[in-house]
Formats: sequence, structure tokens, C-alpha cells
Amino acid sequence: MKKIIIAIDGVSSTGKSTMAKDLAKELGYTYIDTGAMYRAVTLYSLQHGFFTDGGIDEPKLQAAMNDIDISFRLNPETGRPDTYLNGVKVEKEIRGMEVANRVSPIAALGFVRRAMVAKQQEMGRAKGIVMDGRDIGTVVFPDAELKIYVTASPEVRAQRRLDELKAKGEAASFEEVLENVKTRDHIDMTRAESPLRKADDALELDNSQMTIAEQKAWLLEQYKKVI
Ligand code: C5P
Repeated sequence: MKKIIIAIDGVSSTGKSTMAKDLAKELGYTYIDTGAMYRAVTLYSLQHGFFTDGGIDEPKLQAAMNDIDISFRLNPETGRPDTYLNGVKVEKEIRGMEVANRVSPIAALGFVRRAMVAKQQEMGRAKGIVMDGRDIGTVVFPDAELKIYVTASPEVRAQRRLDELKAKGEAASFEEVLENVKTRDHIDMTRAESPLRKADDALELDNSQMTIAEQKAWLLEQYKKVI
């Protein structure tokens, strides 16, 4: 069967990664979470003191880029990939609010994006992938056979993220999460380097009122149309 590239982009906390993971599993494809890569760079920056009062110490981060190795390994228990930073599993650390509050300025840096995009293109070369992020259909794989752009209201997204955090035992308030979702969207959409936008040929999905099962059925329908 022909293998394709499926690009899933959209605003923060729409459940893109859940959709992408499920779809990849169903199709026997590899799932690649590009947000996890920017989150891992952010965690590295926190660990190495690159955040200063005035912002980010860009020269130090740039000099360290070659020392940042990000990889994914399938977790046999969950059936999903875990993120590793320099050989250490960081799945829990990258999902917390400390990283969430700092990731968008890191992802706005051109040298960070260039390094991540090159890695993502390499990972997708053999096709048979579902990749989610912000610039997959516009920059990473502009020729992807299927492009989806996911949206949902900020309140719905904040509630989903809050439920996720609570399930993991992380404390956060609805207001804090809502503020984070809105701030990240704003930074992601207004940055100079590959801002978040819907690719002209992407299909838009507003999943505010959809169940996970409905989203999966819709995605499979779109996949069958292009295959
Ligand atoms: O998808 P997730 O919410 O984990 O992404 C975290 C952050 O990483 C986003 O808010 C965005 O700033 C950045 N990102 C990006 N480009 C991608 C994926 C994520 O700029 N392809």
C-alpha cells in the first residue's frame, strides 16, 4: 500500500497529538510529535540556565544546539513514543507548566527551528508518518499528501489541557492554563519565523464539539480519499 505523509497542524491543546497518535496506530504509521522536540530544547535551556531576567541567552543556546540530542522510543506499555533528551526520558518534565510557559519564545528562534525542521524532514523521509505541530503542512512537508488544520475554542482547549494535567497529578488552575493557551497561540501566530497558519490546501477541523471517536472517523475518511 502507498505510504504518505499526514501533517496535522493547529493551535495549542486541540488534542492534535491524541488524534495523530491514534491515526498512526490505526494505519501502522510512525507518529512524530514535533512539539515535544521544541519542549525538549526548552527543558535543556532551563536545565542549563539559558533563561535570564532579560529573556533567553541566545548565543549560549545556539552554541549548545549540537549537544542537544532528541529522540523518540516506543514505550511498550503505552504503545506510544516517549521523548528522550540526551538519552534520558523526559516525557513528564516536558509536559509541565514550567516548560509550557517558556516553549513558544524558544520555538520562535530561527536557529532552533532550522535544526528541528532538518531533523523532522529526515525522520519523515521514508513516509508512512503522521507528524503534528504548527508548521508541518507549511514548512516541514509542504508536499504532504494529507494536511489537517485543527482548531477549537480557547475555553474548550484549556479545559482539555487542565484535565490532562490533573490526570498526571500536575496542579494548575483553569485561568492559568487558559492564559497559557492564548499566549502560546499569539506568539506562535505572530512570530517572524514560520508562523502558525493554515496551509492553503489543508482541511480545517473544528473539534470543539466532537468526541475522539468522531474525530478518528473523520480523519480516516479524509485519509481514504487521498490514498
Ligand atoms: O504541540 P505542543 O503544544 O506540544 O507544542 C509546544 C510549542 O512548541 C508550541 O506552543 C509552539 O510554540 C512550538 N511548536 C512549534 N512548531 C511545531 C511544534 C510546536 O513552534 N512544529
